Amino acid sequence: MHAPLRIGLIGAGGIGRHLAWQLRPLSEAELVGVYDADVELTQRAATELEVRPYKSLRALLRDPNLDACILATPPHTHYKLGMQILQHGKHLFCEKPLALTVRHCDALLQAADAANRILMVGQVLRLFPLFWQSKQWLQAGVIGIPIAVHLQRRGFEVNLFRQGWRADPKQSGGMLLEMNVHELDYLRWLFGEIEVLAAQGSHPYAEPNCVQHWHALLRFESGVIGTIECSIVDPLGGYIVRIVGTEGAMEHTGFSGAIRYRRHGSQEVNLTPEEIGTPEPYLWELRSFVRAILYHEPLPFDGYDGRMAVANAHAVLRKMGRPA
Ligand SMILES: NC(=O)c1ccc[n+]([C@@H]2O[C@H](COP(=O)([O-])OP(=O)(O)OC[C@H]3O[C@@H](n4cnc5c(N)ncnc54)[C@H](O)[C@@H]3O)[C@@H](O)[C@H]2O)c1
Repeated sequence: MHAPLRIGLIGAGGIGRHLAWQLRPLSEAELVGVYDADVELTQRAATELEVRPYKSLRALLRDPNLDACILATPPHTHYKLGMQILQHGKHLFCEKPLALTVRHCDALLQAADAANRILMVGQVLRLFPLFWQSKQWLQAGVIGIPIAVHLQRRGFEVNLFRQGWRADPKQSGGMLLEMNVHELDYLRWLFGEIEVLAAQGSHPYAEPNCVQHWHALLRFESGVIGTIECSIVDPLGGYIVRIVGTEGAMEHTGFSGAIRYRRHGSQEVNLTPEEIGTPEPYLWELRSFVRAILYHEPLPFDGYDGRMAVANAHAVLRKMGRPA
């Protein structure tokens, strides 16, 4: 039995505090303290989480009582802060996207290697029940050999991208790097490396200054062909993933709803998230991070997966001929 892993939180905004609460039930980990560039928020989060407020980043990084950091700051800060965390010998759980450029992702991977530290990126979509189940069913061969996939993620999130750091593509990376790295990571997990054959992006509103609706045609190393369509300007919203295979087809509806498949000539099989019964996704990813460090258990996804999600987002943007 190891002593609990001692973790510091950098960035106490929405997801940072959510991750901190998820750590609570884990006996294998202890949140020691928090630092946010906003001094008042550091104090508020420390009181709320009953941990130490760090006065500066330097104080946190130099604390010998910390083994690891959760980095939950905006995307444009991940490279610089991530490098500092690793160079101070701490393991790193970095929120997605790992960084805004592939070059910066590679530097972070190298820094983790050089320091012999674990680097995990929060590509948590894989652990949401319907997404997780789709992979289990594909591996079990319920629809035979997969042939084609179509994924749509649509919502009216344009106002979110008009606020704070998300409004500036130089800080957020726009919707592709800030949001759709999740979808690109999920599809790569299912079907292997991605070749982007064609992509088109649309930018109907003046603000935010980034792609707001995009489509791409993909081919995977497994031979699967795919289309993906993502929107932050669609008020009808909805999430759908449909996969056709040699022996049937499968469909799920993302964060809620159900997953179902039908084999040729058979009854449909359905499951809801409750029936799947996987752990809370954020708790599950953090527990995996902690157990990889303490017990050398395999990570469900790692820094390289985060790097490839960023690389594929840039491949889509290049095909569109757009910076973000
Ligand atoms: N995996 C997911 O489901 C998920 C969900 C939401 C956000 N995220 C990611 O988490 C990150 C943060 O998003 P959020 O929604 O929590 O943003 P947020 O704006 O709510 O919080 C970010 C916090 O970081 C702080 N900060 C900014 N620069 C800093 C610095 N240099 N040092 C210390 N603190 C700094 C800000 O003061 C703020 O409190 C982003 O990369 C985002 O993409 C992931």
